[in-house]
Amino acid sequence: MSQWSYQAPLELSDEQYVRWQALLEERTGICFLQHKSILQKGLSQRMREAGIDDYEYYFDLVSAVPEGVVEWILLVDRISVKETSFFREPKSFKTVQAFLDKRLASSAQRQDYTIDLWSVGCSTGEEAISLAMVASEAIEKSHAKLFLGIMATDISKSALAIAKRGLYSARKIEPISAALKKKYFIQTNNDDFEVLPALLQQVCFTQGNIIEFDQAPKMAMDVIFFQNVLVYFRRWRHKDVLDALVGHLKPGGMLVVGPGEVSNWQHPLMRRSADDTIQAYVRHD
Ligand SMILES: C[S@@+](CC[C@H](N)C(=O)[O-])C[C@H]1O[C@@H](n2cnc3c(N)ncnc32)[C@H](O)[C@@H]1O
Repeated sequence: MSQWSYQAPLELSDEQYVRWQALLEERTGICFLQHKSILQKGLSQRMREAGIDDYEYYFDLVSAVPEGVVEWILLVDRISVKETSFFREPKSFKTVQAFLDKRLASSAQRQDYTIDLWSVGCSTGEEAISLAMVASEAIEKSHAKLFLGIMATDISKSALAIAKRGLYSARKIEPISAALKKKYFIQTNNDDFEVLPALLQQVCFTQGNIIEFDQAPKMAMDVIFFQNVLVYFRRWRHKDVLDALVGHLKPGGMLVVGPGEVSNWQHPLMRRSADDTIQAYVRHD
């Protein structure tokens, strides 16, 4: 059979579907309820690559710790939705820009100050690089001598590998303004664009699972940017994840989630921005 011929996904029984959905949700937070065909397709693809055609056997394989850990990572790469773009939800980035301008105006005199941002669920890096450009511009405008650090985490190793290369097609960088493209990208011989090494080096791409953040060492962030991830999680989990993120903000720091992504979340330390076309919260202690 040619490698291009269509192969129908292996049939997943309702019983198997319930077991797989529960395992994936327990370990990643991603919920496939009402998305059986998507789950079946992703599982089938990965199983065919691994030369396996039995869902039960594969379930036991990926469930085994530590023997199944590598295969588990490959499966998660296959099933997670990694769609992203530079400056996705432009208003959220404008909000971060205004917030940093104000924050830097009040802290620019301090020698010990660092500006720390975190892109949570960074996929292939576009969000983190967009934040790096916004923060670099704000620091330059403020004339402050500050250290900038961008943390970027995702569960998907393959997405992080692409992010670390910092190489994007001309089509990918279209949403970026001409001035920022000129300043922060270098055109390669293949007509792709490389992120300026000095900017890419400010970003630390590393693997991190959102549902384990309550166990992660405490970080102190000025901005946590968390868009288009919670939509794949069940509502009851939103509060736990967001509450855990508050503990990683500096006093006065900002948490940005995708517009309309979360409803009814409140936290005693967080105040929501008055502009309801974005969803941003500032820590007020
Ligand atoms: C649709 S992309 C969004 C990317 C980016 N935040 C944006 O808005 O353009 C969702 C990302 O969340 C990641 N993700 C899903 N579950 C995760 C988890 N439990 N921990 C960390 N990342 C996760 C996926 O691997 C994927 O890269």
